[in-house]
Amino acid sequence: MSRFICIGNQKGGAGKTTTTATIGAALAIWGARVLLVDLDSQGNLSTSLGLPPRPKLFDLLVKRSPFDSCVVETGRKNLWLLPGDSTTAEAKETLAGRSFREQALAKALQPARGKFDYILMDCAPSMDVLNICALVAAREVIMPVPVEYLAMVGAAAYSKILDQFAQDGLEVKLIAVVPTFYDEVTVKCREGIGILREQFGDKLADPIKKDVRIAEAPGFGKTIWEYKSKCAAADGYLALMKRVVAVGAV
Ligand SMILES: Nc1ncnc2c1ncn2[C@@H]1O[C@H](COP(=O)(O)OP(=O)(O)O)[C@@H](O)[C@H]1O
Ligand SMILES: [Mg+2]
Repeated sequence: MSRFICIGNQKGGAGKTTTTATIGAALAIWGARVLLVDLDSQGNLSTSLGLPPRPKLFDLLVKRSPFDSCVVETGRKNLWLLPGDSTTAEAKETLAGRSFREQALAKALQPARGKFDYILMDCAPSMDVLNICALVAAREVIMPVPVEYLAMVGAAAYSKILDQFAQDGLEVKLIAVVPTFYDEVTVKCREGIGILREQFGDKLADPIKKDVRIAEAPGFGKTIWEYKSKCAAADGYLALMKRVVAVGAV
């Protein structure tokens, strides 16, 4: 069964792209067939995999190019990418004027069903038309949240939006809230985990530690598994990947 998972949070710099690339690559190494979808016009997901941003999302949504022609190889076994670039912003404008726009991405990604075990969508930091499309296309959401006050307030707001969508009949479920940039030395971070636990209960995943090596890896076009697979952030992401797999097994 294919799992469509959105990695979302309205906040920028929350660790969305890092989480998408890192657990996507981990799932691929583990043996799952994985498609990463870049929904952010900055094209960071491509860059962090060492690939050039390309207008493939635009081709898929606006030119209605065949799905297979929009998926590119990443040079890694079991891992494919549907890249985006600055034209993603134009795609959003086109979508905004279209009827049934909320279903546009879900429909365009239909051919991925059965071909990939995991379709991971890396969202932009907003709640624009494309991110709503992503929530319609996804059944599950992973929300990375930096362990700091304002980000935690934002996380509560984002999860309320998801609750609202669920009440309106959309089948989308928050499966993991992932504390990112965790620094166990600071009291604020330790307190932050307590606050997140109160808010999210058993949806709260183990924190991903702040780790310079995971910030360095994209500069080499490498995932953390190719750069420094033995580091604190890599350990955290391996645990997260196992958690995501376990949720699917229920
Ligand atoms: N655990 C971490 N420790 C240190 N730096 C991190 C960590 N996670 C992400 N980063 C860095 O923080 C920046 C923002 O992360 P990113 O994944 O791009 O966030 P988003 O996609 O939510 O905007 C990037 O430069 C990334 O390399
Ligand atoms: Mg990003």
